[in-house]
Amino acid sequence: ATTIIEPFRIKSVEPLRFTSREQRIKILEEAFYNPFLVRADDVLIDLLTDSGTSAMSSRQWAAMMEGDESYAGSKSFYRFETAVQKITGMKNIIPTHQGRASEKILFTITGGKGKYFLSNTLFDTTRANIEFSGATGIDLLTEAGLQPSVPAPFKGNIDLEAMEKIILEKGAENIAMVIITITNNSGGGQPVSMENIRAASRICKKYGVAFFIDACRFAENCYFIKQREEGYAQKTILEIANELFSCADGCTMSAKKDAFANIGGFLALNDAALTQECRNLLVITEGFPTYGGLAGRDLEAIAVGLEEIVQEDYLKYRIRSMEYIGEKLEAAGIPFVKPVGGHAVYLDAKAFLPHVPVHQYPGLALSNELYIEGGIRSVEIGSLMFGKYAEDGALIPAPMELVRLAIPRRVYTQSHIDYVAEVIIEVFNKRASVKGYEIAYEAPLLRHFTARLRPV
Ligand code: F0G
Repeated sequence: ATTIIEPFRIKSVEPLRFTSREQRIKILEEAFYNPFLVRADDVLIDLLTDSGTSAMSSRQWAAMMEGDESYAGSKSFYRFETAVQKITGMKNIIPTHQGRASEKILFTITGGKGKYFLSNTLFDTTRANIEFSGATGIDLLTEAGLQPSVPAPFKGNIDLEAMEKIILEKGAENIAMVIITITNNSGGGQPVSMENIRAASRICKKYGVAFFIDACRFAENCYFIKQREEGYAQKTILEIANELFSCADGCTMSAKKDAFANIGGFLALNDAALTQECRNLLVITEGFPTYGGLAGRDLEAIAVGLEEIVQEDYLKYRIRSMEYIGEKLEAAGIPFVKPVGGHAVYLDAKAFLPHVPVHQYPGLALSNELYIEGGIRSVEIGSLMFGKYAEDGALIPAPMELVRLAIPRRVYTQSHIDYVAEVIIEVFNKRASVKGYEIAYEAPLLRHFTARLRPV
């Protein structure tokens, strides 16, 4: 037999709640047409995010009972530290309550007015934390990454030439760091090649610029390297991860992704002085250095999750199940970012709804239609998330208008996914009737979380 099956069976189930189309139209109106404001109970298949939504294993739940809740020097911290070191090879491990807490601490120290952060693509919270420190974030994605319909193996790569040019232009002393996001979440969940990481690291060394990795989905990225990059087919995921992290001075991580945890994160660093500064800030914002905002049981869940995420059986199923959705959409002529990413499928809303102009947020329009049609929740990654205003008030749109359908780890089965594909195809068949939106209220930072909209 050739079918790649889920490498687990189900021990505990959670019922889904069904709603009617009429109910969903009303629910969406009451949520100001923003899927973030819809109650989870009113969602049938929740693909809003793969963050913190994983199903934990029986081993993780068992480990949680072993959690040592001592304030200082907890046994669980040392287990966690060992697990993170085994993957990253970094000396100093700082637990945080989630990825953005690591970012906040690191960027408060390394950022500030006049500093620049260069990236393939910064995720929204990462960019917001950089900007909140007064610094500027610059995305330098490789050209291939900006063309949704054209497949390429490593569309998450940073444009090395542009990166070196900016270092010279702004002066190396003004570059806080280069930070590469693996996989590139905002650009389709696309991987970065080892070659690109090595080259970026070399350029950073040449100019004395710090090189960091936003490691949220490192295991998926390493699996893509194994599949797609020459010389890696025979290596284990752990070996690939070790090589990848050895290029960097440190990393930020949200354990809510590639550590199968419902909460948690860390900062891993080699530099002793920077670690000290981070720990000083950690103590006043997160907690004591051996728990950093987490319970002992959370540290245990992460430690076990990090062992499970690098298992090849799991990654083979994970990436294959993503390809499976891609094949269904491809057969129906649906426009999406090709190839499919490691954790999500990204519909190309600009091509899906060509009649909705960018200032009417085609990504949001498509996302809302998927909810009305089938109770599926997704997230807009386009001009609602990343749009800015020019001085005259005109919208400066994001480079792409995407709708992300993120697949929680080990949560949905193949028939759930078949249903999702059917709903997308039904919406595609009636796409001409889908209308755009305008913003009625927005917050100054991360506006997509709380924005209120109305149909135009
Ligand atoms: N970096 C990347 C690439 C992310 O995708 C996220 C979170 C973070 C940092 C921040 O981590 O949520 O633990 O504070 N992404 C989630 C998502 C929210 O839906 O993609 P966090």
